[in-house]
Amino acid sequence: MNDLKRSLSEAAAAAFQAAGLPPEFGRVTASDRPDLADFQCNGALAAAKSAKRNPREIAVQVVDILKGDPRLASVEIAGVGFINMRVSDEALSARVREIAADERVGAQLLEQPRRVLVDYAGPNVAKPMHVGHLRASIIGESVKRLYRFRGDDVVGDAHFGDWGFQMGLLISAIMDEDAFINALMEKLPEAPRGFSAADEAKVMAEFESRITLADLDRIYPAASIRQKEDPAFKERARKATAELQNGRFGYRLLWRHFVKVSRVALEREFHALGVDFDLWKGESDVNDLIEPMVRQLEDKGLLVEDQGARIVRVAREGDKHDVPPLLVVSSEGSAMYGTTDLATILDRRKSFDPHLILYCVDQRQALHFETVFRAAYLAGYAAEGALEHIGFGTMNGTDGKPFKTRAGGVLKLHDLIEMAREKARERLREAGLGAELSEEQFEDTAHKVGVAALKFADLQNFRGTSYVFDLDRFTSFEGKTGPYLLYQSVRIKSVLRRAAEAGATAGRIVIHEPAERDLAMLLDAFEGALSEAYDKKAPNFVAEHAYKLAQAFSKFYAACPIVSADTEDLRASRLSLAQTTLRQLELALDLLGIEAPERM
Ligand code: ARG
Repeated sequence: MNDLKRSLSEAAAAAFQAAGLPPEFGRVTASDRPDLADFQCNGALAAAKSAKRNPREIAVQVVDILKGDPRLASVEIAGVGFINMRVSDEALSARVREIAADERVGAQLLEQPRRVLVDYAGPNVAKPMHVGHLRASIIGESVKRLYRFRGDDVVGDAHFGDWGFQMGLLISAIMDEDAFINALMEKLPEAPRGFSAADEAKVMAEFESRITLADLDRIYPAASIRQKEDPAFKERARKATAELQNGRFGYRLLWRHFVKVSRVALEREFHALGVDFDLWKGESDVNDLIEPMVRQLEDKGLLVEDQGARIVRVAREGDKHDVPPLLVVSSEGSAMYGTTDLATILDRRKSFDPHLILYCVDQRQALHFETVFRAAYLAGYAAEGALEHIGFGTMNGTDGKPFKTRAGGVLKLHDLIEMAREKARERLREAGLGAELSEEQFEDTAHKVGVAALKFADLQNFRGTSYVFDLDRFTSFEGKTGPYLLYQSVRIKSVLRRAAEAGATAGRIVIHEPAERDLAMLLDAFEGALSEAYDKKAPNFVAEHAYKLAQAFSKFYAACPIVSADTEDLRASRLSLAQTTLRQLELALDLLGIEAPERM
């Protein structure tokens, strides 16, 4: 079941071939001038260039062949040799009936599905999340859903930052402020003889009662400032990090507590945002792989000494910019961020053997990934091209710099969601929406509206583009916003409810009116939008489609009465169109990670 663009491309390819030209020229796209045509093919121009012929002559030949296609109401030449096509109402009706009957509402499955791992969000223990993490979560979740929906075998991994210097900072700071924990740590450099599971549980319970999430939130920022001013403290924290990594028993227990507290809170917040991971692996999980990996890199002759550190050189001849070497072991003997990433590639190969790993991480880390990927290719840890960084720009404040809270700090996901929810409540009330809902339903709707506002505002931009945080605009029910889309979907639901109450039933779709036609053309364009979003790893194409579809429905609904349609057949056809639109709209929203409420 091909979409029209694809099936017309096949017809045009065959026509070019019949005219003695390469079929590749038969690519058909949506028309730039929907007032003149539905589709266009510009291939005659390119074909003329390569065959050194007159483009118009080629276009005439191709058009003559295409004229025989029963699906086309007209095929015409425009300008120097553009081919314009209009699909017949019958062919369009048949295609939309197909979509209506299709479980996937017109979206196709990949011919060659792959195993794909999406590495996204990348939160850290105790370190507050910044806008980069927010965007990574929103975009990564959507890419994951899109890839899975198209048929790939997909695993989404949070890649928890649980192993760096911040752990040493936390350990040192806690030991400074809590004498009991300090003494405990001194007592437990390694597991005492006969230390039982019950003993361990007792220690963990002690941590539980002494160190809460609020403590971590307070201690980390303070420690992070302190290490900048207090070299002795910094040194201690460094040492603690190394000792933790080398397995110091007490530190490991304390670390486990930090990780747990942090993770529980993060998972809850992510869940509220509609972001859920299949895997929650941490940087710590590859710790044991690092030593053998370093040896292996050495054996392969890739590791070189450089001022006491050990690095892999990855620069290539003809590089357009400097690509620094990968720092594998620092001069102090510690593994670095890139070392962990390299070892993680090995780990993923063992567990899931992905064809592709997508790293949905801030654009500012582009060079880091370029370095890691090149090292991985050199070492034979991944096939060339199997690692891809899908970077994104920043969400900025009105000052043009990465968004900060009014107090100047990084925003907390929790607070951001609450802000959006509060604004959504306000918006709903001022629009007179949700008045008949119970308090619980109203809250649920406000939450969904708030999350949709945040997510859609992000996803409607191409990911590389930066945008300005503007909650007033994001939460508006008018314009290109999440709330507008939710409102439209709720409106369709209420139309369908009223139709059901009036005893109307859906039936065979037949397209007559221009507004029906436009809606039908959009339903058909879904597959094209998904495949573009998939190829470019860019959910904005899905967002754009959802928005256009909602608009087309709105126009259709204004021009074409449904329940009060003139005939039974017309009513049945329009009802079916509305149902299909709702299904496709909700599916598109779901791929963006946006959930629509039942009522407003
Ligand atoms: N935790 C990192 C940070 O906060 C992001 C991790 C991104 N993923 C990765 N494989 N490096 O910057």
